[in-house]
Amino acid sequence: MTTSSTHHHDAAPSAPLKAAILERFAREVAKYPEAGKQSAVMACLAIVQQDEGFVSVQREREIAAYLGMAPIAVHEVTTFYNMYNQHPVGKFKLNVCTNLPCQLRDGVTALVHLEKKLGIKMGETTADGLFTLQQSECLGACADSPVMLVNDRTMCSFMSNDKLDQLIDGLRSAKPGEAS
Ligand code: FES
Repeated sequence: MTTSSTHHHDAAPSAPLKAAILERFAREVAKYPEAGKQSAVMACLAIVQQDEGFVSVQREREIAAYLGMAPIAVHEVTTFYNMYNQHPVGKFKLNVCTNLPCQLRDGVTALVHLEKKLGIKMGETTADGLFTLQQSECLGACADSPVMLVNDRTMCSFMSNDKLDQLIDGLRSAKPGEAS
């Protein structure tokens, strides 16, 4: 007997934003004059992502309503910056730069090595929920290629296959702790 594949919709409605989150929104909005409260959109997205791990379409709509913006305008921000996750991601998000300058200097080699080591394709998350592999736009460190960003914070340069192995093994064994 086969079970049908699990649903991958993350659009299932979740509870509305918690009061604590709305309070944090209010603090961000207070930094701007009333007419400019939409300037808090990135901060609000970051707050939701920090709390829930990603920004769902529902949360985009709630933020839009909160800030008096069109939902599409919020969605454009979410999709423009790759630090925002539109879907749940693994504990460690690995973004490998594959823009052209890096491509010419082994950026793709690094990506392929990671795909093999983790057993997933770019854009996927490992079954244990530990690693998500993504491409990244230029990280401004082209001369240090291959370069990658771990959890939108930690930049790793000159990532030879050996260094990639060390990084992955290190993150695996540091599992219960912090990302960096
Ligand atoms: S192209 Fe990869 S860091 Fe610039």
